[in-house]
Amino acid sequence: MSGTGSDLEVTMHTEEVYDPPEDFRANSEFNDPSVYARAEADPSGWWASWAEKLKWSEPWHQVLDWNAPWARWFVNGKLNVSENCLDRHVEAGNGGKVAYHWVGEDGAQRDITYAQLLDETSRIANVLKGLGVEPGDVVGIYLPMIPEAPAAMIACARIGAVHNVVFGGFSAEAVRERMVTSSAKVLITADATLRRGKPLPMKAALDEALAEMPSIEHVLVADRTGGEVTTPMTEGRDHWLRAAMADVTADCPPVPLDSEHPLFILYTSGSTASPKGILHTTGGYLTGVTATHKMIFDLKAETDVYWCAADIGWVTGHSYIVYGALANGATSVLYEGAPDYPHQGRFWEIIQEYKVTILYTAPTVIRSFIKWGREIPDGYDLSSLRLLGSVGEPINPRAWKWYRSVIGGERCPVVDTWWQTETGHAMIAPLPAITATKPGSATRPFPGISAAVVNHEGDIVEEGGGVLTLRRPWPGMARTLYGDDDRFVETYWTRWGRDVYDVGDAARIDEDGYIWILGRTDDVINVSGHRLSTMEVESALVGHKAVAEAAVIGKSDEQTGQAIVAFVTPEHDVEPDDELKASLSAHVADKIGKLARPKQIIWSDELPKTRSGKIMRRLLRDIAEGRELGDVTTLRDPSVVSLIGERVAAGDED
Ligand code: WTA
Repeated sequence: MSGTGSDLEVTMHTEEVYDPPEDFRANSEFNDPSVYARAEADPSGWWASWAEKLKWSEPWHQVLDWNAPWARWFVNGKLNVSENCLDRHVEAGNGGKVAYHWVGEDGAQRDITYAQLLDETSRIANVLKGLGVEPGDVVGIYLPMIPEAPAAMIACARIGAVHNVVFGGFSAEAVRERMVTSSAKVLITADATLRRGKPLPMKAALDEALAEMPSIEHVLVADRTGGEVTTPMTEGRDHWLRAAMADVTADCPPVPLDSEHPLFILYTSGSTASPKGILHTTGGYLTGVTATHKMIFDLKAETDVYWCAADIGWVTGHSYIVYGALANGATSVLYEGAPDYPHQGRFWEIIQEYKVTILYTAPTVIRSFIKWGREIPDGYDLSSLRLLGSVGEPINPRAWKWYRSVIGGERCPVVDTWWQTETGHAMIAPLPAITATKPGSATRPFPGISAAVVNHEGDIVEEGGGVLTLRRPWPGMARTLYGDDDRFVETYWTRWGRDVYDVGDAARIDEDGYIWILGRTDDVINVSGHRLSTMEVESALVGHKAVAEAAVIGKSDEQTGQAIVAFVTPEHDVEPDDELKASLSAHVADKIGKLARPKQIIWSDELPKTRSGKIMRRLLRDIAEGRELGDVTTLRDPSVVSLIGERVAAGDED
């Protein structure tokens, strides 16, 4: 049975408003409500006040140069991100402070101090230099959630190399595509990743694809399992990371880089099959993640234990496990495993053990906790928690309230943070000491951010529904799509003009100016907070020899927010059966990754098309969700709809 979806609908007219808890307000550094007006009156001055807290080797001449849609922040300033994340804290006498409490899936634990992280980072940077990596070169990173992952990222930043992290759950084919399109020179990976107690080879799984990554000159392999899996090493190309790090010194001075020097590329899904290489740069990005991380989480670096339970392979991990957290000198938990392994109380066990004060996770995870029952968290001491965050997809009010009361014991503010890979940092989120919250709303724009809901004509809607736009440059904004300026302009800066950023999310704004995100308007599906493109999955499916045609949609799902449903027309000589379903699933896992496997595959002899031959995905969505179908007379063959409808109904009873 599929979910009813009703629980997922964001209730628009909730009367519930939660004021910031009084003692939270009293203890916060950020409890002055005038900050919104001050930032609004002088956005450049506001962001500059945050940039000033960073260490610059050369000052900027101008805060912002805006030649829409091209932005340059902190023009001509020079700094190094790695120096700001590590050396600065060590020099201030905080080298012994824990940067990461690393918790392995297998229960392994390791505390890494700022001084140790600086040592490891500098060594990796020296290894990269030794392999010929120069400023501007791209380095691929495909790693599990192990301490080497943040160290490798910051090592790139130290020498001006541009990292391109690929989520460890993506397939070798996805890695290949991202390495080839970014002309990456070195790839950093691991022998294996642990999945529910078993090592899953990574390097060995990459080997075949590596033959088709001509730009990759060297592969560095982190040792996660101590030889438990077979790791083929090609002489001259492949090197064990630890051994290479032991061969170099930990002396690697950070290179002062231009504020607009590229920091990283991160591929994300859009409305076409080919992923977009979002490019972020140095000074503005670091300023944006530092300011938002500090204020939205009300971070007290001396006392907080902060846990962003995302994977560093996504932007959330980049900005709030690595750069924002380290720049702010936070102590973080870095967790390798899943929320339910080896048991469903794993998160609470970790929170209890490390006395975590700030938890940042995704609605889909919260919904799993709800499903598993409150007895589980109730069995742990969660009294250390003082703030709860949510990210990745709209959070339904029921999950929000459960999170606040069951996990937060009603004393923790809940901050729902809306943002995207493209925005670099959170854009719409409450400031926990001053912004009243409403369950299901990300509330209002962060100080200095200008957001508005517009209607079809592009007119600003004061109250009501439409699509979300961002109307003023911000420091962490994507600068371009790697190697494709035209696509950048066309995708984000054309619909409403060159100076208005087209978000791609539908949203409502209420009478208090609170923003309620409803979901994507393009062909992006959000499964458990992970962005996937319908086209990407479709093109994987039609790449299978038994498939003639395929259409993929996102259907609302009680657990994962959306689930992937594929309508597939087999080749005429192919008999569709469960074996073929399994084979298609495996094929998608191979091309993209397991997370892209359809939850449901529905056979259809024909897909509903308009007379001009366009597949009507909207109609398929309606069918999948069991909604009343609108006008089908524009279809070439209206009868296909009822046939598919019957199959969907039959499939639901499985
Ligand atoms: C969705 C993740 C509602 C949204 C940081 C956005 C959200 C897309 C929220 C970006 C939220 C993210 N409430 N929707 N708090 N956060 N989204 O690039 O549709 O992986 O456009 O960045 O996720 O996904 P991305």
